[in-house]
Amino acid sequence: MPDFVPVGIVGVGTCLPERVVTNKELETMIETTDEWIVNRTGIRERRIARSEEATSDLAVQAARRALTSAGVEPDEVDLIIVATATPDHVFPATASLVQDQLGCSKAGAFDLSAGCTGFMYALVSGSTFVSGGNLGTVLVIGAETISKMLNWKDRSTCILFGDGAGAVVLREVPRSTGLLASYLGSDGSGGPLLQVPAGGSRMPNCHQTLDASLHCLHMNGREVYRFAVRVMGDAALDVVKRAGLNKEDIDLFIPHQANIRIIEAAAKRLGLSMDKVLVNVDRYGNTSSASVPIALDEALRSGRIKSGNNVVMVGFGAGLSWGAVVMKWQ
Ligand code: ACO
Repeated sequence: MPDFVPVGIVGVGTCLPERVVTNKELETMIETTDEWIVNRTGIRERRIARSEEATSDLAVQAARRALTSAGVEPDEVDLIIVATATPDHVFPATASLVQDQLGCSKAGAFDLSAGCTGFMYALVSGSTFVSGGNLGTVLVIGAETISKMLNWKDRSTCILFGDGAGAVVLREVPRSTGLLASYLGSDGSGGPLLQVPAGGSRMPNCHQTLDASLHCLHMNGREVYRFAVRVMGDAALDVVKRAGLNKEDIDLFIPHQANIRIIEAAAKRLGLSMDKVLVNVDRYGNTSSASVPIALDEALRSGRIKSGNNVVMVGFGAGLSWGAVVMKWQ
């Protein structure tokens, strides 16, 4: 049996568009209120990309910051994975555009699609390249401009999301630290609950699909809510057990930031007080694949993660899909 290399996050960076859209501003666009949005979701404002700003633009800035914080030069990167549901194009991969912009001349690059769970899938995938001893440095990015696929007349979805990007650098770390356990799940029978119906091979875009807004995000909010509350707690418990830990050993819980009520329900299921839970959904809304790395960066900057801490990250989203990891911070 090969000796697995311990792998961990050695650098983190984020990029958030400058433009802040508050609930008050949404009140001028659709029939909604700040009170409704805050009560049902916990969201107060979100960042929205400029019309000329694409997903790769946010990804490149987040990645540059992650490389700087890790002290890694672009030509030391072996692989770039971009998790996104809003790529710049159907092809080429956004990861290839990022590779070029960063000047990562020796890196391979590919995109990974798993809805809002994309970053968790990319983190686990990237880790296996390092832990297997095949690659030394992997850049994992979650980047989205979800605002571009929203129907801004649909008040049940457009209030929920925001744009942004978060990136991490994966490398070998001291033994007994880094990634302790991971867990990835999928239930494709729930696919229709959260989808962009048109624009793929099933229903290529045409005048009719555009007129019916089928190129935009469609969601059965109530069903996705039920699913999310169940899997967030279950996935966290499962991964903690796989790591040989108990829920009392969790020092910080970083959940996908979709809705404060979902986060609170998951924390309750884990028996965690909210001071052990990272919440920033109030400021950024649901940034899909970018939400967990943006929250991780905030946790590190604010000193909420200390050496030796067990950090649990959990994502869920379209697929339906979900994923969780436990990391002991080095
Ligand atoms: N402002 C005011 N009223 C609204 C709004 C709004 N923005 N949106 C919906 N309503 C109304 C509805 O029309 C409905 O009115 P009615 O009772 O007269 O029919 C009422 O509010 C209740 O609507 P519900 O949809 O039942 O509200 P609910 O409490 O379920 O909250 C929400 C909706 C916030 C979307 C919730 O279901 C949710 O958070 N679901 C999970 C969504 C999620 O996390 N998605 C991300 C998945 S990750 C990914 O991969 C993208």
